[in-house]
Amino acid sequence: MKKTIASGMRPTGKLHLGHYLGVIQNWVSLQDQYDCYFFAADWHALTTKFDKTETLAQDTLDVITDWLASGLDPARATLYVQSLVPQIAELNILLGMITPQNWVERDPTLKDLVKMHADISYGMLGYPVLMSSDIMAFNAHAVPVGSDQVAHIEITRDIARRFNNIYKTNFFIEPEPVLNDCALICGLDGQKMGKSFDNDIKISDTDEVTAKKVMSAITDPARVRRDDTGNPDQCQVAFKYWQIFGTPVQIEAAQSECRAGSRGCADCKRQLAAVINEKFAPVRERRRYFEQNQDEVKQIITDGSAKARAKAQETLTEVKKIIGIYR
Ligand code: TRP
Repeated sequence: MKKTIASGMRPTGKLHLGHYLGVIQNWVSLQDQYDCYFFAADWHALTTKFDKTETLAQDTLDVITDWLASGLDPARATLYVQSLVPQIAELNILLGMITPQNWVERDPTLKDLVKMHADISYGMLGYPVLMSSDIMAFNAHAVPVGSDQVAHIEITRDIARRFNNIYKTNFFIEPEPVLNDCALICGLDGQKMGKSFDNDIKISDTDEVTAKKVMSAITDPARVRRDDTGNPDQCQVAFKYWQIFGTPVQIEAAQSECRAGSRGCADCKRQLAAVINEKFAPVRERRRYFEQNQDEVKQIITDGSAKARAKAQETLTEVKKIIGIYR
């Protein structure tokens, strides 16, 4: 029998290349090996955006549209929306009872969130327990995430172990994080790529928009004129992108022509944009299809959520039996 993986993403709207390279590509490659549960974590979005919900429903749909465009396949993976699986919320209550307060307060990722959002809610404090419920509702063996999420999964392992100890069972698996070995892509300004920093390239951007954005990327600041000799190691964005998107031959050419002063930064970025656009052409074509067929996306969410509910209910029934709740 295949092992199970579960992973989610907060629906922050249309996804960028950082999401694609850091997480989604990994998910796509795991679809055949594992029994996969991938979801839009809309409850988690509410931990910070409870008062900005105008776009939440559309953002949820957009995120799943981007997944389908990227090659997640509802025939091979269960794709759903967290809030359509209330069993997760019920498990969250039960796991909340056995989680010591200081475990959640210790969570370093939560501490970062708290720094950004001064007043924190009860729900926000429960972030790691809810995330554990997401994972444990499917009794997942593994959780493919970006490296920023590993601390949360440590708590999940602790909660699973504690449940097993308290109720003298070995029901819950202690899930392992699965990290992607892909290099982190920086934003067009050399900082972390992020929607709110206005430095990202979206999966859904057109070729023209992508080219325009790539042309704005920072290069070697010491290189002023076209035929100045450049230093790719000092190139703050463009050469880093070449290393992610180029073939070895293209990377070598970019490097040696830059050093020789025979390729200007503008030319270099024009070529780079073409390479990126070529890579995303099939993704963008699928995205156009799903954009024009949103009812199909909604049906995929409806079906996936029903499957997820059935599986989570099995877990919950077993958990209630183990705890000894009146059934
Ligand atoms: N916290 C994750 C993020 O911000 C999203 C998430 C919620 C998640 N529940 C999860 C990831 C369960 C993996 C497993 O991206």
